[in-house]
Parts: sequence; C-alpha cells; structure tokens
Amino acid sequence: MIHNIINFSNVSVIRSDKKILKDISVDINTGENIVILGPNGSGKSTFLKLLTRQIYPSYTDDSTVCRVCDRTVWDISELRHLMGIVSNDIQYDFNFDITGYETVLSGFFGSVGLFTNHKVTAVMEKKAKEMMDFMEISHLQHKYMNIMSAGENKKFLIARALVSEPKILVLDEPTNNLDIAASKKFKDILRKIIAHKTNVICITHQVFDIIPEISRIIMFKEGQIFQDGEVREVLNSENLSSLFNIKVELINNKEGYLII
Ligand SMILES: Nc1ncnc2c1ncn2[C@@H]1O[C@H](COP(=O)(O)OP(=O)(O)OP(=O)(O)O)[C@@H](O)[C@H]1O
Ligand SMILES: [Mg+2]
Repeated sequence: MIHNIINFSNVSVIRSDKKILKDISVDINTGENIVILGPNGSGKSTFLKLLTRQIYPSYTDDSTVCRVCDRTVWDISELRHLMGIVSNDIQYDFNFDITGYETVLSGFFGSVGLFTNHKVTAVMEKKAKEMMDFMEISHLQHKYMNIMSAGENKKFLIARALVSEPKILVLDEPTNNLDIAASKKFKDILRKIIAHKTNVICITHQVFDIIPEISRIIMFKEGQIFQDGEVREVLNSENLSSLFNIKVELINNKEGYLII
C-alpha cells in the first residue's frame, strides 16, 4: 500500500551550470488529483523526469529527500506499473508504423513496441481491448500511430499507460496540439479516468485543462514552486498574472476556466 506519491525536500537540478529546479519541497499523497501549472521553461517537465526517475537530484545533502512512491530507489519497470506516463517524449517515441493495438499492448512491458521476447497473453489482450473500449478508440486499433491525429495518438498512449492499472496517471501537456473540441472531449476522458479510481497529475500551461476533480494546484515559476494549494484558494487572476508575468483575468464559467 503506497502512502505518498512524492516526498521531495530541497531537491535541485542543475543543467549547463544553471539551476533549473531550485530547492523543491513538495509532498503529494495518494488520492490527490493535481495540476502543475507554469509558463514555458519553468521546470515542469524536469519535475516530471524526477518523478519518473529519468533523472535524479544534481546533488544531495542531509536536507535532501527525493522519494517516489515511498522509496528512494526504484526498478524503473516496476515503477511503470504504479505510474502511467503520457508525455511528449513518449508520443515522439511512438511516431512510427506501430498499430494502436500494439501500442496499448506494449504498456504491459513498459517498452516502445512489441518484441519477440514479449509473451502477450490472452489476459493482456482482453485488458488491452477493454482499455481501447474505455477510451473509445477500438475502431482505430489497426491504424498506425505515425498517421493518427494528435488526439487519436494521445488516447492510445493513455490506454497504454492504463493497461497495468497504475495508481496514478501523469500527463505532460495533454492538450497540446488539440483543437477546442478535442480539448473538451479530452477533459471528459480525464474525468472518466478519475471516476475509475486512477488519480491524475496533469502538467500544463493552460487553465482550461483544469477539471472540477482537480483539488490542488502547484504553480512552477523559474524553477521554483511559486504557489501550492487548493484550486479555489490559489487559482486567481492575481497569482496567474504574477505566474505568467502578464496582466490576465481568470474567468470560471460552465465550460471551465479561461484566461483573458
Ligand atoms: N538537458 C538540459 N540542458 C540544459 N537546459 C535544460 C535541459 N533540460 C531542461 N533545460 C532547461 O530547463 C528549463 C526548464 O525546462 P522544462 O522542460 O522543465 O520546462 P517546462 O516547464 O516543462 O516548459 P514547457 O512548458 O515549455 O514544456 C528550460 O529553461 C530548459 O531550457
Ligand atoms: Mg514541458
């Protein structure tokens, strides 16, 4: 039983002599649905890479804690079963002639594609089909990933992330490249995923992506946590104007949040 998705204390990442994440301290518990919001280059995807163990803190001292799912050290493939990831890097990796169905099946192996040593069982096939039905993409299962639209492609990658029934689904810029209708539909999918007891961490720079199930928002600015709190307390015009360095007004209507 996992208690904490993240316990980070004084975590820093340095690249090219620049601190791109500065003394990050944050705890995320199981059961929370979170948005990470911040402008381009604020460190959101770097934070995701710490979470997925693609990178580690650049240095540690007595005050540094960097635990993911209650542990400091993880076998990556084991972690993949607890945490489903959909990022632009993964979308890029799957940009070849692999079918949607094969992509979903590859989620069981945490691999980019299916290989001869992968034993696909009848149980896996059944689960993959269930997930494609859930995502409403079964009719596209024989299409190649490199000719799908961005929205279709993302849905297959989400189905791939969900086959191993992760505790948490982490999405980096899920509505990038999606038109308004596709973004709206995407939010419905997210709501459905949360309703089926998978928690979501959604990294974005669009307030439109914030669905009612998201209770907490963590704002990143210049490699630091600028605000962290409940959406209804922290998401306001003043904080957004400071976050994006431009005067904006937040509107909340029945479609969700908008910035003007
Ligand atoms: N390997 C690297 N070497 C040098 N600089 C890097 C490296 N990786 C990231 N950076 C820099 O760190 C900063 C944060 O990058 P990151 O990708 O985490 O931002 P982001 O908040 O995800 O931005 P976006 O919204 O554009 O995706 C950027 O200035 C980026 O150029
Ligand atoms: Mg990013």
